[in-house]
Amino acid sequence: MPVHDEILMHVVARLDDETFIHCRRVKSLALSLGKTAGLPPTELKLLGQGAFFHDIGKSFLPRDVLQKQAPLSPRDRAIIKMHPKLGWDFAELIGLEEGVKRIILEHHLWADGRDGYPDELTGCKPCFLAQITAVADAVDSMTSDYRTAKSLDACLEYLEENAGTKFSRTAVEIFKAAASKGLVPLPQSAPVRSLSR
Ligand SMILES: [Fe+2]
Ligand SMILES: [Fe+2]
Repeated sequence: MPVHDEILMHVVARLDDETFIHCRRVKSLALSLGKTAGLPPTELKLLGQGAFFHDIGKSFLPRDVLQKQAPLSPRDRAIIKMHPKLGWDFAELIGLEEGVKRIILEHHLWADGRDGYPDELTGCKPCFLAQITAVADAVDSMTSDYRTAKSLDACLEYLEENAGTKFSRTAVEIFKAAASKGLVPLPQSAPVRSLSR
């Protein structure tokens, strides 16, 4: 096995179970969206890798901060906000492709470039694959916790409210198209209701 693959596997194994499963689901959902958008195989490959590794930087963060149940302090939030840059640095070190690295770095940057993080990128717009990953990431976060899981309708409402600012309008439209075709795999915990739009 090439040495970089070995390091990559080691770092992936350091992710806590919850984050690892989240990454697998985000990959699956992002690929559904990418296929709905008609992306070519080369782009789908980058999207799948980038979506799977999007939170790889979290493997370098303190576990107690990541798994904290209580409200996060400003310091905790500052630590968590470091994960895209840490992930980018790691991806660069092991030579992942540019498209994959950009997904890792830009998945928390708002589509309009006006907010989100890393702070240094404020004013820049994320690439299209990062925009798709951001929608998949948000949907999984909204639907995966059985205590707070939102329905598909509630997710759509949230995405539409934030389309054109936090989320790319195009990526939200792709999500709606995929959802209407039943191509959105939601976790078991998410309440599934019929699409009302
Ligand atoms: Fe993230
Ligand atoms: Fe994530």
